[in-house]
Amino acid sequence: MNECIVKVEELCVQFGDFFAVKNVSFDVNKGEIFGFLGANGAGKTTTIRVLCGLLNPTSGTVLIDNIELIKGKENLIKQKVGYMSQRFTLYDGISIEENMDFAASLRHLDPEDYITQRNNLLDFIDFKEDLSTIVKDLPGGIKQEIALCVALIHNPMIVFLDEPTAGVAPAARFRFWKLIKELSNRGKTVFVTTHYMDEAENCGRIALMRSGELIALDSPQNLKTKTFTKQLYNLNPKNSNYKFQDTSYFELLEPYGQHYHAIFKDENLTNSSSLLKDFDIEKINPSLEDVFIRLVEGQNR
Ligand SMILES: Nc1ncnc2c1ncn2[C@@H]1O[C@H](COP(=O)(O)OP(=O)(O)OP(=O)(O)O)[C@@H](O)[C@H]1O
Ligand SMILES: [Mg+2]
Repeated sequence: MNECIVKVEELCVQFGDFFAVKNVSFDVNKGEIFGFLGANGAGKTTTIRVLCGLLNPTSGTVLIDNIELIKGKENLIKQKVGYMSQRFTLYDGISIEENMDFAASLRHLDPEDYITQRNNLLDFIDFKEDLSTIVKDLPGGIKQEIALCVALIHNPMIVFLDEPTAGVAPAARFRFWKLIKELSNRGKTVFVTTHYMDEAENCGRIALMRSGELIALDSPQNLKTKTFTKQLYNLNPKNSNYKFQDTSYFELLEPYGQHYHAIFKDENLTNSSSLLKDFDIEKINPSLEDVFIRLVEGQNR
């Protein structure tokens, strides 16, 4: 049976009159990789800051491991959560070791426990460098792996990773996601935001945010089948300069690189000679990118 580790009910965060988070409710299960997706400004970071006890919500209830997050009592949950923030992860001008020492001192870790935990974490990321390396001299991917270790230094049961792979090279992103999966295998709950849809495929469930509201929450596969109840097609123009004069055939038509992804109003139109003259047409399965474009970006146009 699923064990709920994060429970959010009717969460609202207002800045003045503006709702950055509006009536958001969801549960996260223990050991789950929970993806939090949405366009820039959708309210992802704001929600995470509340769940980590760093920002007081305007209203709503948050429970972390069955403990209610109450203003002034944030410390009750702080040892349960780790946080890798979006903009700031490590101090660039000091060494890896100094960053880790500093994080451990902020958490008041017992020195022996800290060294054991540090060694475990460095083994976990298969760290081969020198601990005295200054952070700014590290490749981006390694820096983010060290930042993950820092977020896990007090062995929290849940870790919030806010765009941990933004700007990281593809091979290093892949490595980072192997770590995320291993954390989940070991029973940790990972709450992660990303703008990379290929990464989001690795999540057990995905919450989609739009303008502060939660608009969908499901597994990647269910999001695809529920969003696309009709067959999706890829239209590959035979002439790369092709411009659509008439889009009346389509229920949906989205540019996709040089191609188009389309849903036809009538399936028989896929055999239309006027279209086949200009396009190669094939049936495709929707990707999470298709889901995201349809649910999030399509609505903002
Ligand atoms: N302290 C603040 N004061 C006023 N507005 C804020 C504050 N923090 C965030 N906002 C606004 O709240 C909205 C949500 O911001 P948030 O950072 O949560 O979005 P996000 O989904 O994390 O976006 P991104 O993908 O760009 O990181 C934005 O419009 C932002 O400008
Ligand atoms: Mg953010």
